[in-house]
Amino acid sequence: CGIVGYVGPQDARDVVLEGLRRLEYRGYDSAGIAVVADGELSTAKKAGKLANLEKVLADRPLPAATVGIGHTRWATHGGPTDRNAHPHLSADGTVAVIHNGIIENFAALRGELEDDGVEFGSETDTEVAAHLLARAYAGEPEGEGRLADAMRAVCRRLEGAFTLVATAVAEPDTLVAARRSSPLVVGIGQTADGTAEYFLGSDVAAFIGHTREARELGQDQVVEIDRTRGLTVTDFFGEVAEPTAYTVDWDAAAAEKGGYDWFMLKEIAEQPQAIADTLLGRLGENGELVLDEVRLSDQELRDIDKIFVVSCGTSYHAGLIAKYAIEHWTRIPVEVEVASEFRYRDPVLDRSTLVIVISQSGETMDTLMALRHARDQKARVLAICNANGSTIPRESDAVLYTRAGPEIAVASTKAFLSQIVACYLVGLFLAQVRGIKYEDEVAAIVEDLRRLPDAVAEVLTGMEEVRALGRSLADANTILFLGRHVGYPVALEGALKLKELAYIHAEGFAAGELKHGPIAVIDQGTPVVVVVPSPRSRESVHGKVVSNIQEVRARGARTIVIAEEGDEDVVPYADHLIRVPRTPTLMAPVVTTVPLQVLACEIADTRGYDVDQPRNLAKSVTVE
Ligand code: G6P
Repeated sequence: CGIVGYVGPQDARDVVLEGLRRLEYRGYDSAGIAVVADGELSTAKKAGKLANLEKVLADRPLPAATVGIGHTRWATHGGPTDRNAHPHLSADGTVAVIHNGIIENFAALRGELEDDGVEFGSETDTEVAAHLLARAYAGEPEGEGRLADAMRAVCRRLEGAFTLVATAVAEPDTLVAARRSSPLVVGIGQTADGTAEYFLGSDVAAFIGHTREARELGQDQVVEIDRTRGLTVTDFFGEVAEPTAYTVDWDAAAAEKGGYDWFMLKEIAEQPQAIADTLLGRLGENGELVLDEVRLSDQELRDIDKIFVVSCGTSYHAGLIAKYAIEHWTRIPVEVEVASEFRYRDPVLDRSTLVIVISQSGETMDTLMALRHARDQKARVLAICNANGSTIPRESDAVLYTRAGPEIAVASTKAFLSQIVACYLVGLFLAQVRGIKYEDEVAAIVEDLRRLPDAVAEVLTGMEEVRALGRSLADANTILFLGRHVGYPVALEGALKLKELAYIHAEGFAAGELKHGPIAVIDQGTPVVVVVPSPRSRESVHGKVVSNIQEVRARGARTIVIAEEGDEDVVPYADHLIRVPRTPTLMAPVVTTVPLQVLACEIADTRGYDVDQPRNLAKSVTVE
């Protein structure tokens, strides 16, 4: 979910709506806004995308106000209806709350409140917080005075992960927010005449158009923002805490579409720059790597005897690719696992285990919980992350930022390529520190990495044909993706992109596994996308994939072949041939993924779908 709050001299309605627009990628099942004006709380909320709420507000504007909150929802408890949209009000209408996360003991709390005669207007867990807050505030059973006191008292009773933001009729110049495990950042700005203003957001995108000065809140903290008194941060027991100040290094323009029809198209086009930025300053003069941010000592790096890569969705696919390179370069065993499974199976972890968590947003709850589990077991945790100041890097032992810039489209593109590159840097760095690779070997791989931005730029010049192909595939019911070696995770990612964006059934397979079952689904005309490895790859993987293309074609498949320039072996069996530049085997995923992104985007667009905000998904999933 996306959360916005504003306290200051501007019209809160405009600031909050603008923040919601920028955060809509975090969830778009419903949106809502609340302001305190003229001694009353006024709210508007509507199921569906923000545009629906904007229509409601155009017909029935809320009064102007200087304090406001807004929410864009990714539904967990209770369907995506008007009733379940946030903000939620207390029964007496004096307190409004927005929430991100899940209150795990909500059923018990709801039962308690219902026994006390409270009537619920929604199925959400959030509403519990609204009623509890109003009661704590009013002194029943344990009221303490201010809204911030009530918030602290309520938070002490809540279990689970949550960000809560509340506003109350009785304190029209104040916003109070709390966080446990869910994201929340504070922005501090000034209007042209020097008046202070304050912003709350799930991430900095909410207020980047107004200020770059931010404060990071810690775990289990409450922030009270008052127009005259400013900012006060405490823990849940009232102990005052000092928030960490930082300056956001993204500019507002980076979070705009910049002439593209979709954010996704812009982000695909930004990939050469994203990879170049990931490499920036990390490739030393003589071909050695400089990863000063990896704050693990050489001794700690030498002691590592096992690596886990843990992540979700597209970031998981980056991990699968990384395994090939890291094992090959370091000879350290690498296991890759989806974060939601990792901690529940009691993985074998100790001091000499390195856990690499990969997350674009730095907020994915599954990944965060896996990271906490790993640290509890004394493993070292290295985060590969895109969003600065987010929770996952903050809780890790070390972090390598991908520096891909803000990624707004829900389907991850530039973050993915930069994750692969960042993982490769880690692998190579380990090989360097442990003395497994000779200097000239490291230098040669560093050279390969340096060439990647140009290679991706070259692929991007040839995308018109891929788009035309995409349009011709828009009616497909099923599309299969095949690959071997590093091409296998690329196939998985191609299938995921298509599912996410075009809602077409798609599956990725290891090409060699096809004959063991999946080949049965191939029918006359079934599109099969094959990611072909370089003819120079080891163990004749190339030849085997060429055979696999023939096998599926013999069973009626329409073959779409992605192969490098000069590979003539595939020509007779390709119904459609997509060329990519010659690239060393391990670097190939960075280029072969690009046409698959474009293909999925074009198919979705042709089918008339919202490419940036696919149904049922959210960019940052902060619940388990
Ligand atoms: C969500 C997004 C995916 C993303 C995954 C992991 O499900 O829709 O695109 O790959 O989360 O996100 P992270 O921010 O941890 O990389």
